Amino acid sequence: MEFDAMSPTSTAYSPTTPTPHEEPKYHRPSSVLLRMRRSRRCTALLIFVALVAVVVAGQLLLMLHAHRDRLWARPSRRCADLPVPPDHWHLADGSPAFVSIPNAAPIGVGGSVCVRVVVPPRPHNATVLYTPFPGTPWDSVLLDMVGNATNISVPVDLRPIRHVMNTERSSVHIYEADVVLRDADVYIPQGILEYRDAEWNPEMRELLVPYAPANLTIDDGLAVEAVEAADGGENPYSLSRHMELPLCTESSPEGRWVSIDDLPFDPSWVPLPDNNGRVWLPYACRLKRYSYERFAHCLRERYPVLHLFGDSNIRRMMKKLTTLGQWCSTPEQQATKACFCEDHEEKFDRFNVDARDIFFDIDARAGGWMQTRSFDLTRAPQDKARIYMRRWDGLTRSRAPWSEPFEKNITTFGRPQMAIVALTNWDAAFSPRAFYAQELERLLDFIESGFGVDTEIVVRTGQYYCCRHDESRTQRMYTRLRTKAFDQYIRDVFNDRFNGTRRISVWDVAAISERRPLEARMESIPCHSNHARSEVIEVENQVLFNYMCN
Ligand SMILES: *[C@@H]1O[C@H](CO)[C@@H](O)[C@H](O)[C@H]1NC(C)=O
Ligand SMILES: *[C@@H]1O[C@H](CO)[C@@H](O)[C@H](O)[C@H]1NC(C)=O
Ligand SMILES: *[C@@H]1O[C@H](CO)[C@@H](O)[C@H](O)[C@H]1NC(C)=O
Ligand SMILES: *[C@@H]1O[C@H](CO)[C@@H](O)[C@H](O)[C@H]1NC(C)=O
Ligand SMILES: *[C@@H]1O[C@H](CO)[C@@H](O)[C@H](O)[C@H]1NC(C)=O
Ligand SMILES: *[C@@H]1O[C@H](CO)[C@@H](O)[C@H](O)[C@H]1NC(C)=O
Repeated sequence: MEFDAMSPTSTAYSPTTPTPHEEPKYHRPSSVLLRMRRSRRCTALLIFVALVAVVVAGQLLLMLHAHRDRLWARPSRRCADLPVPPDHWHLADGSPAFVSIPNAAPIGVGGSVCVRVVVPPRPHNATVLYTPFPGTPWDSVLLDMVGNATNISVPVDLRPIRHVMNTERSSVHIYEADVVLRDADVYIPQGILEYRDAEWNPEMRELLVPYAPANLTIDDGLAVEAVEAADGGENPYSLSRHMELPLCTESSPEGRWVSIDDLPFDPSWVPLPDNNGRVWLPYACRLKRYSYERFAHCLRERYPVLHLFGDSNIRRMMKKLTTLGQWCSTPEQQATKACFCEDHEEKFDRFNVDARDIFFDIDARAGGWMQTRSFDLTRAPQDKARIYMRRWDGLTRSRAPWSEPFEKNITTFGRPQMAIVALTNWDAAFSPRAFYAQELERLLDFIESGFGVDTEIVVRTGQYYCCRHDESRTQRMYTRLRTKAFDQYIRDVFNDRFNGTRRISVWDVAAISERRPLEARMESIPCHSNHARSEVIEVENQVLFNYMCN
């Protein structure tokens, strides 16, 4: 797929439209002047021709600019400017839910398109057992805009429109999102209706609803084209310019998964591809591929003491880190259950995976080994970095309460430059939200009193969850929207508490998986624990390494 070539069907730039390639016409007069010296008789004619050329080029440029302005100024493409047809609110009970794109004309890359979903009520079957969290939808609609040529998948983050009907349980509900499309392609909406009546939000295990999604009506031909200028020059997101982007310094740069076959550069310049041959490319910055050795150096120099609080997903990350990337690094290993899903029973010699408190001393030669002999708890040995890892099951009730190390006095484990707290997975699965909110407040208090203001706090979101319910006996209360809502809640409370007083950031691993093609997201369906597979963990790690070390 050539990203710098225009699709011939583009209505925005017809073949007769001048392109910036033609602009050099302006600079020809210098050669024209040379020839004028040779032949005075031609002078008048040449000047005339030159003048005509300048005038024509000027006209063409004006037309081009006017055309571009229309495309790039993007008038009235936002949902806020596109009224909802009033009859949508009065659709009959039981009529099919559908996707609508009120203005599906092509947009310039980087522009947004308004996507709506209209969900009429179910006949007679509304249940009052479920309630959405404030600001979240009644209905769980999984919708993506999928590039027809690239398979790039852009999630549609649907929000309820502010309208009284959307506050009522047994009413038509209408959701909308302004979706920004940054890669040239034709995007087709693809989605399903996962749950109605807030059934995505079981607050007790007994209320977990089996996953039986319904189809959404998506009219044939419903699509939006995002177009870029022929030379890609106007498009800051063009893959041909990706390597010019600055290195990423954000913890959650927004991006997309691109097939390595579509890369105009050497794939080894960016982090490794996933198991489907796609690399994660942020839109506005560039990730470099950190070796684990290099990251170990960075830790020693910049984060000699790091605290890490998290669940088995953190354990999997630490397996990569302590083995300097050797864990699950070959295709044969990656095909094993431990790598693509569950590693709990895997033999592993670097640390005791059942321990609650683990101290790793890490360097670029030996990697990381669990400390067993007596040692100074508060600082790393010379030439090494120290990671103190506390295994917790989120902030749920557990035999080893999550708060134990904080209650003891967290300073006894050193004063870290950074503390990473991983939440949501266990919490969304096992805790009602009120309990979670209460425990989160306690955690914030502990952070506030336990860590100096120079300790940066990184919040790791839960893993992306979709397309199933937990059929195992554990009956985790997982649903896609529930984990998303828990993640959003954490962002809000951390911001409320700490914005302006200490450095906080979010390591959004959910957003990375959410943008994989749906078939890739479905690979995790047989994995009850919902662990990310090792190839995706590698990408999550690289995003963090770039944030910490660039
Ligand atoms: C409505 O509920 C009834 C009784 O529980 C059930 O038999 C029927 O299948 C439900 N209909 C729909 C459309 O879910
Ligand atoms: C999508 O791609 C297929 C195969 O390349 C093509 O036949 C089809 O017309 C495309 N659809 C749109 C809406 O561009
Ligand atoms: C896009 O995804 C579809 C469905 O999985 C697959 O058949 C097709 O080959 C993919 N196309 C590209 C260009 O990756
Ligand atoms: C949804 O559509 C697919 C393909 O058109 C069809 O096979 C499936 O049965 C439909 N599912 C439901 C629940 O109607
Ligand atoms: C916590 O431990 C540190 C270092 O061991 C000590 O300086 C500090 O006074 C202790 N704080 C409390 C509240 O016990
Ligand atoms: C933090 O507060 C500043 C100033 O009040 C605000 O501009 C900024 O958006 C806030 N940051 C976040 C992440 O909410």
